Amino acid sequence: MANKIQQIGVLTSGGDAPGMNAAVRAVVRTALARGLDVKGIRRGYHGLLKEDMFDMNSRSVSEIMQRGGTVLQTARSERMRTEVGVKLAAEICEKRMIQGLVVIGGDGSYKGAQELAKHGVNVCCVPGTIDLDIASTEYTIGFDTAVNTAMDAIDKIRDTSTSHERCSIIEVMGRTRGYIALWSGIACGAEKIIIPENYDFDEDEIVEEIRTGRNFGKKHFIIINAEGIGDSIGLAQRIEEKTGMETRATILGYLQRGGSPTCRDRVYASMMGAKAVDVLLEGKQNRVICYQKGEFLDVDIEDAHKMEKGISEDMVKMAEELSV
Ligand code: F6P
Repeated sequence: MANKIQQIGVLTSGGDAPGMNAAVRAVVRTALARGLDVKGIRRGYHGLLKEDMFDMNSRSVSEIMQRGGTVLQTARSERMRTEVGVKLAAEICEKRMIQGLVVIGGDGSYKGAQELAKHGVNVCCVPGTIDLDIASTEYTIGFDTAVNTAMDAIDKIRDTSTSHERCSIIEVMGRTRGYIALWSGIACGAEKIIIPENYDFDEDEIVEEIRTGRNFGKKHFIIINAEGIGDSIGLAQRIEEKTGMETRATILGYLQRGGSPTCRDRVYASMMGAKAVDVLLEGKQNRVICYQKGEFLDVDIEDAHKMEKGISEDMVKMAEELSV
């Protein structure tokens, strides 16, 4: 097939996620293997708008696979939310002969790519976010590492919680969605998981569950609270007042974003990065890479944008049943 692409660009954007480096490495080495040149763009769209880019070779991505964060650096660009910014970014891509742009990032990064596509840039997005909140895919780079990090931390808090016979509220990340809370909560056998998808703000119900747990001889009560609900410190105070049970809140915060990626994150990120390059070389325009039902696929960016993703009701029900 006739292929006009000679050079691609790659950037990471939005919140960093463990495994992004594996994706960058796969993009660079796949592109080089197919005879393409690769420009690495620093600090996401922010760097693109400043033309902060450099030629990448095989050695540019040595020794990065096992590292958390992103060697390309990342940023959240306000200018890319404006028409003027998007137009300038598209002009820069044309001027710098970037004929395909691989964007590794989350929801906000996808929106930027969607706008760039409308201005004639051929984009291919790779889902990189710990939040798992991209509707077109069942897997996002960094989620696996983040939930494992959260799980380790919650296990530790559980030890001290049991010793002191306390209630512990642990707030995990996830933006507006409850995937990290649900997965880490199930993995740690949490007594209660609070997620934006179904929380009705009935604190009396939580208080009642704590009392029942105590009557059943439970030595602790672990609540995983999604950041989309927040107010963990306030909730801890109110629960302590109403139950008389000492209650502490821990907000796990940014530690969930760092650390060496798990095997799954390294392997899936590599598959997705490599696929992004091949999709561009196949001549496809404006795609996003997804993982669905055990397969790595690509779908149109506009179709991806219209998709919606719920939370598994089976998982929620199972978590409730097992928490007694
Ligand atoms: O999207 C990843 C994430 O860590 C979310 O879970 C969180 O809401 C957000 O980023 C925090 O963003 P920032 O790094 O801008 O504080």
